[in-house]
Amino acid sequence: MDLGTLASTLLCAFLLAKLVYPWLTKGTPHENHRLPPGPRRWPIVGNLLQLGHLPHRDLASFCDKYGPLVYLRLGSVDAITTNDPQIIREILLQQDDIFASRPRTVAAVHLAYGCGDVALAPVGPKWKRMRRICMEHLLTTKRLELFAKNRADEAQHLVRDAWDRAQMGKPVNLREVLGAFSMNNVTRMLLGKQYFGAGSSGPQEAMEFMHITHELFWLLGLIYLGDYLPVWRWVDPYGCERKMREVEKRVDDFHTRIIEEHRRANEMRGKDEVEDGDMDFVDILLSLPGEDGKEHMEDVEIKALIQDMIAAATDTSAVTSEWAMAEVIKHPRVLSKIQQELDSVVGFDRMVSESDLAHLPYLRCVVRETFRMHPAGPFLIPHESLRATTINGYYIPAKTRVFINTHGLGRNTALWDNVGEFYPERHWPADGSRVEISHGADFKILPFSAGKRKCPGAPLGVVFVLVALARLFHCFDWSPPDGVRAEDIDTTEVYGMTMPKAEPLMAIAKPRLAPHMYL
Ligand code: HEM
Repeated sequence: MDLGTLASTLLCAFLLAKLVYPWLTKGTPHENHRLPPGPRRWPIVGNLLQLGHLPHRDLASFCDKYGPLVYLRLGSVDAITTNDPQIIREILLQQDDIFASRPRTVAAVHLAYGCGDVALAPVGPKWKRMRRICMEHLLTTKRLELFAKNRADEAQHLVRDAWDRAQMGKPVNLREVLGAFSMNNVTRMLLGKQYFGAGSSGPQEAMEFMHITHELFWLLGLIYLGDYLPVWRWVDPYGCERKMREVEKRVDDFHTRIIEEHRRANEMRGKDEVEDGDMDFVDILLSLPGEDGKEHMEDVEIKALIQDMIAAATDTSAVTSEWAMAEVIKHPRVLSKIQQELDSVVGFDRMVSESDLAHLPYLRCVVRETFRMHPAGPFLIPHESLRATTINGYYIPAKTRVFINTHGLGRNTALWDNVGEFYPERHWPADGSRVEISHGADFKILPFSAGKRKCPGAPLGVVFVLVALARLFHCFDWSPPDGVRAEDIDTTEVYGMTMPKAEPLMAIAKPRLAPHMYL
């Protein structure tokens, strides 16, 4: 967001507001209610100009200043933010019925089939049905087990990829290899295709797929001022909505092609010949009945679900794995403890498998610590209140947008010591119990959220991250590229729907196992 341009574009509106503000605020619905404390608001723009390029950090500093629950006015939108476990529990559990909806943002309307998906849909019977389809047909334990073989292939492919680059004596671009690992896993499960590597479906289609997926992420993560200042949409100085419409069309063409290919393939092999284990998610969706007794689901519903799964599953796990690798390479002490654990549980004669993951408590602490410091997204997907309510005695109007700051939660100094230090041991359970990666009863870490909107793909996301890390740490020693000291590895972050490292992580891989294990 270019604040200079924003300020000049809004100047006229601002002057006008100065004249009419007293009239505008007189008689607002909140006048008899005590809103939570928050920073001073400007007319028309409210607190929008107080947000910089890392808004999660700005909102955390408001919480430091005004308390655990902060009210903001973002243009015409009421908003609250928090980084406090008690308030988060109140919103996501005690008052889940009120706060489980989503705002209808411009990006969600264009890029999620008119909010007809799961992740960006307002709460209601349509969202409930789509979410049930995910839980009962796509992300079931049985279905995920059927794809275990694919995941094992992709894990070997990941190791091979890093090994090939190590053999050339070049640093490995971990963003690239981890991105390919998670994209391949997701597209094989969803579309029955592998986009990177030996069995890939052609470089042109892979490039097109990568390109539109990145554009989609970027647009969904944008703080688009048109969502807060309706007048901005008339001007749209950066052409954001035009871009959204373009991407909407290209994504839709891509999904149409995928569905047609699946229909053709199913006709050719005959419906009854398809074994359950051969069905990808698109096949399953094509086989399900539609709403109100219709024989099939609508194409638009299938497309919205495919889109959600790709967006929700790929970047989240790849970004988390890259952050974990960066922190571990930055802390060689942690790397050697992970490897000791792997060597004693797995040994040197075989590769890590999914059944080992439960027996790697230290690695699980590493992932938990990564989620504390670098949650996949800086905020949960924004929630919205369906009706007015109160929290801690403060009035929260209907349609308030809720920014739960998971980045701020993990760095809340009232909850954690030495918040800037990567220290997995802080999660080691004193009573020897299993290290859970999703949230615990204390709500001090919230990687997958809680309540009605909690992530339905959490078990799969955890497997993607743990498998990738376990394989890479078991198979290689890692160090920064020549000339960079471990402690100097850069951990600057970039804001978006997910929050990656600003620069892709490059590192030198030195094989630790016998050469035949990599082939
Ligand atoms: C490390 C990996 C992952 C992380 C960190 C993650 C995290 C999250 C978070 C924080 C939310 C928002 C919850 C809220 O707004 O309260 C979410 C929602 C969602 N996630 Fe995940 N996720 C991951 C992997 C996956 C996978 C693998 C899938 C599916 C294959 C998935 C599917 C979804 C869906 C459909 C939603 C929307 C739920 C709703 O709004 O009802 N996620 N995820």
